[in-house]
Amino acid sequence: MLILSENDLRSVLNYKNVLKALESGFVAYKRKGKFPLRTAIESEEYKSTVLFMPSSFSDKSGVKIVSLCENNFSKGLPYTRGAYLLLSLVDGSPLCMMDGSYLTYVRTAAISLLASKYLANKNPKTLGIIGAGKIGTMATEAHLSYFGIEKIYAFDKFDSSMNSFTKRLNTNSSTDIVMCKEGNEAVSNSDILITATTSYKPVFNSRFIKEGTHVNGIGSYKKSMQEIPEGLIVRAKIFVDTLEGATSEPGDIVIPLEEGLIIKDNICEISEVILKGFTRNQSDITFFKSVGFSLEDIITAELAYNESKKRGIGLEVDF
Ligand SMILES: NC(=O)c1ccc[n+]([C@@H]2O[C@H](COP(=O)([O-])OP(=O)(O)OC[C@H]3O[C@@H](n4cnc5c(N)ncnc54)[C@H](O)[C@@H]3O)[C@@H](O)[C@H]2O)c1
Repeated sequence: MLILSENDLRSVLNYKNVLKALESGFVAYKRKGKFPLRTAIESEEYKSTVLFMPSSFSDKSGVKIVSLCENNFSKGLPYTRGAYLLLSLVDGSPLCMMDGSYLTYVRTAAISLLASKYLANKNPKTLGIIGAGKIGTMATEAHLSYFGIEKIYAFDKFDSSMNSFTKRLNTNSSTDIVMCKEGNEAVSNSDILITATTSYKPVFNSRFIKEGTHVNGIGSYKKSMQEIPEGLIVRAKIFVDTLEGATSEPGDIVIPLEEGLIIKDNICEISEVILKGFTRNQSDITFFKSVGFSLEDIITAELAYNESKKRGIGLEVDF
């Protein structure tokens, strides 16, 4: 079995190859795979949730175990951590165990880029980011790698996150970074807005959203978490990674559904957009909710495994 560390994954995965793999995966997944809804175990004692995300795709199966730990920030540890196990569906052999934290960051950043590619107005010049942690930073990098972004408006409630965000992006990019004093400042200036927080309440006021904005909501993954105000949800055309996950898990969608502010029939899966296209009016507000989908993990894990085997990367162990 091959073992892949974060550094190994960094050397074989980039936003371009993950984006391409995800696009093909979303086109084929209903024919080629099985993706049961994930199982969550919550610990009130440790303020953490563990998600078990199994799937099969083509001739592989796999499972990600990812933990989301609220107390980690104060300990200087990552909020999102995990491991991924990839197996052969043909003979059951375990093929690869890899770092599930980096896998999650890169595939989540790439899925937000995929949504922006299909849903945002052409040639976006400004990007807003609320929640400049691990995933927010990588989602920003992913957008910089694809669009000609001239200015980033960033807001995080902690200075430490803002500092690491600006340090990391400054080394890679000449794009201007405006450090905002509040979330609404990032919202009102952005062609594309990304929210990637751990917040339990909406992180901006919907009246600040200008017409034509595309919003990627990455953060909330359970009903008690809500980053996006209902005022935006009722104005936007809504897209999700999967209808099953998005309408049963994150507060961003579940709360307005339960309040009768939106209906399920008006929510579209991103795979439909990739297959059939989507023509937006310049003034449309579009919203993509990424709650996390096991397809994104198995596609990215298989890409990492194949590339690593080709290039002799990673550590082989007998199992
Ligand atoms: N959509 C997906 O597939 C997916 C996958 C993994 C994780 N996530 C979610 O993404 C979110 C971010 O994860 P991460 O690993 O980057 O965590 P992180 O702790 O590295 O980053 C979160 C950032 O949000 C900031 N924040 C929290 N509340 C805020 C507020 N009200 N306003 C502004 N900033 C605020 C924090 O200060 C922190 O810097 C989490 O909610 C996580 O569950 C989503």
